[in-house]
Amino acid sequence: MNAIRIAEGVYWVGAIDWNLRNFHGYETEKGSTYNAYLILDEKITLIDAVKEPFKEEMLSRISSVIDPAKIDVIVSNHAEPDHSGALPFMKSIAKNAKIYAAFGAGIKDLAAYYGDLGYIGVKAGETLSLGKRTLTFVPTPMVHWPDNMVSYMTPENILFSNDAFGQHYASDERLDTECDLPEAYIQARKYYANIVQPYGMQTGKALDALAGLKIDMICPSHGIIWTEHIPDILALYKSWVANEYDETAIIVYDTMWHSTEAMAHAIENAFLAAGLKPRLYNLHYCHNSDIVADAMTAKYIAVGSPTLNNNMMPSVASFLTYFKGLNGNKKKFIAFGSYGWGGQSPDQVSEGLKSPKCEALMPAIKLAYKPSDEQLKKIEADVLEALKNQ
Ligand code: FEO
Repeated sequence: MNAIRIAEGVYWVGAIDWNLRNFHGYETEKGSTYNAYLILDEKITLIDAVKEPFKEEMLSRISSVIDPAKIDVIVSNHAEPDHSGALPFMKSIAKNAKIYAAFGAGIKDLAAYYGDLGYIGVKAGETLSLGKRTLTFVPTPMVHWPDNMVSYMTPENILFSNDAFGQHYASDERLDTECDLPEAYIQARKYYANIVQPYGMQTGKALDALAGLKIDMICPSHGIIWTEHIPDILALYKSWVANEYDETAIIVYDTMWHSTEAMAHAIENAFLAAGLKPRLYNLHYCHNSDIVADAMTAKYIAVGSPTLNNNMMPSVASFLTYFKGLNGNKKKFIAFGSYGWGGQSPDQVSEGLKSPKCEALMPAIKLAYKPSDEQLKKIEADVLEALKNQ
């Protein structure tokens, strides 16, 4: 495997994980990459490592350019094992390499995973001369763990941004100018929604900290490298951080005998009549991580569940747990569901949506057994009226 030159003296030496389909609960249908970067200067420098099972792939890419034992500096921008798993292996080869990580959390987290490999903590604004080049370290805590930082390199103005601006997107193309760009944006959005969204406020602070920098290349730790489309990905991040809404409404449900599904379609009709763009997700077929990517910017969310053994269906509980954890922008919600007897699920759904601080558009909608056409028409009319009256 060969290193890929991305700038004079700068190489991508990461790994492509074509088969990754799950990243701690996030469905990664396009696989991923673990990006590592090699800088050839007076101090030979490796930025980040890769997931441990991919260490030989990284080593072979580094070896295509230099003797890996000659690496002087390893910068660990983030201790999560998808970027640090191969660190002990690299340290065993580059025995004299000094490992730099964020002062405090970075060192603490690396030590917890790998023991003492002799880490050097760096603080905000601290610099490291590599020879012709200089790295400046900028902490970006909680984008996505407390230890995250980014490294900015001059004179090329390259931002090694780690998780920020990443995408779970396996590709042999490395640059935004070479890849399937619409797919890269889809995956960047899904990545933000599932990984970065809970820390939108901290991401906003990180964007502020980077605002004064001239950036000619963004090298994230997953997916493609941003070059010509830097203004576009920065603008998208700003809109996501600002919790901007679009004119969509998402309807998430599970169904036993299609009654709750029929209610979902009645609500869909109401959203359509109100001029919104509804999107339907049957939890039997759709993954939580895809739904939350669309939910991120939606104005409304409707969640439906039949009552099963006095409870909402487990698939709906799973979605609500996942949705709550992402702490995204607040929406008006509709809880709904059919039942045979008992009928507890719509109120449970309603409680589940209140805890991520969403606000009920209207009382929960409940119907026994199979809804009649008249009942469905009434749901449609009631939802439309609630939308008009707010
Ligand atoms: Fe890609 Fe937070 O690790």
